[in-house]
Amino acid sequence: MEHFLSSMPKAELHMHLEGSLEPELMFELAQRNGIELPWDTVDQVRAAYNFGNLQDFLDLYYQGAGVLQTEQDFYDLTWAYLKQCETQNVIHTEPFFDPQTHTARGIDIGTVISGIDRALLHGREQLGISSRLILSFLRHLSEEDAFRTLEQALPYRDKFVAVGLDSSEAGNPPAKFQRVFEKARHEGFLTVAHAGEEGPPEYVWQALDLLKVSRIDHGVRASEDPALIERLAREQIPLTVCPLSNVRLRVFRSLDQHNILQLLEQGLKVTVNSDDPAYFGGYMGENFIEMSRQLPLTRDQAVQLSHNAFEAAFVSDDEKAAML
Ligand code: ADE
Ligand code: ZN
Repeated sequence: MEHFLSSMPKAELHMHLEGSLEPELMFELAQRNGIELPWDTVDQVRAAYNFGNLQDFLDLYYQGAGVLQTEQDFYDLTWAYLKQCETQNVIHTEPFFDPQTHTARGIDIGTVISGIDRALLHGREQLGISSRLILSFLRHLSEEDAFRTLEQALPYRDKFVAVGLDSSEAGNPPAKFQRVFEKARHEGFLTVAHAGEEGPPEYVWQALDLLKVSRIDHGVRASEDPALIERLAREQIPLTVCPLSNVRLRVFRSLDQHNILQLLEQGLKVTVNSDDPAYFGGYMGENFIEMSRQLPLTRDQAVQLSHNAFEAAFVSDDEKAAML
C-alpha cells in the first residue's frame, strides 16, 4: 500500500510556500542574510514545533519567514519544495504565497513573485511539474491592507491565477474581505479561502456566498452542519483537507479521529494536501502514508482522493485530460 501511495501521481492544491521552509534552509538563509535566529540548532527549531493551536504555529511561521529576503531566497524556497514534489510523484501543484508577510518587512512584492515564478518555471521545464500560483491575503490584517496588496500585485497578474485567505481564522470571518474578493474576481482571478479549519461552519457558508470561492481550504468543521454538507456534496465544492496539519494544530486529537473518510463517503469532493509540510511532519507522500496507517484508507479511496485533486485543479480541461 505504501509503495502504491508513493508512486501514485498526485496533485497538491493547498500548500503555503513559506510553510515549506525546512529548518536547514532557514539557517542557511539566516546566515546568508546576516539574520539572528532565536535557535542555535536545527534540532532546537524542530523541538519548538509543538503547537497548541493555529495561532501558536502562525507566530513561529511568520518568524521563520523573516529569513526570506532576496529574489534568490524565494527561488531557493520554491525549488526545494518542487524537488520534494519530484520525489513524491506530485506532478501538479498550486501553492500559496503570503505577500503581506514580506511586504510588511519592506520587501518588494516583485522580489517575492519573481523568485517564486522563476522556480515554478524551472519546475515545469526541468522536472515536468505543472503549477499555478495563488496569492493569499492575511485575514488578521485589514481589508484595506488586502486591497493595497492586490494593487501591488496587479503588475504581475500573469504570474498567479487566484487569491486566497489565510492566517488567524477565529474572529476574522470571510465577510471582512467581501469587497476585495469582489475586486479580485472583477480583475479575472479565481478565489479560494481557508474556512472551517478552526472557525465555525458559518465561515464556510460565507466563503461560498460572499467570496464566491471555487474551493474551500480545510472545511473539516463543515461536518457540524448537515445542511452545509448537503450543499458541498450537491455542488461538488472541492475541500482541500490537510490531515497532518489538522493533527499538529489540534483540530483533531489524532489522525484516527480525523473525519476525512467520512466526508469522502458523504460524497464531498475531498482532496489531500500538506499545508505547511516543513512544520507539520511531512509532504504529500507522508500525508497519504500516515492516513493509510491510522485510518481504514482503501486503494480505491486513495485513488479517488488523488483524482479529485486533478479535477479540482485550476487548469483547462485539456490539461486535466493530459494529467489524468
Ligand atoms: N497559513 C499557513 N498555514 C495556515 C493554516 N493552516 N491556516 C491558516 N493560515 C495558514
Ligand atoms: Zn493552509
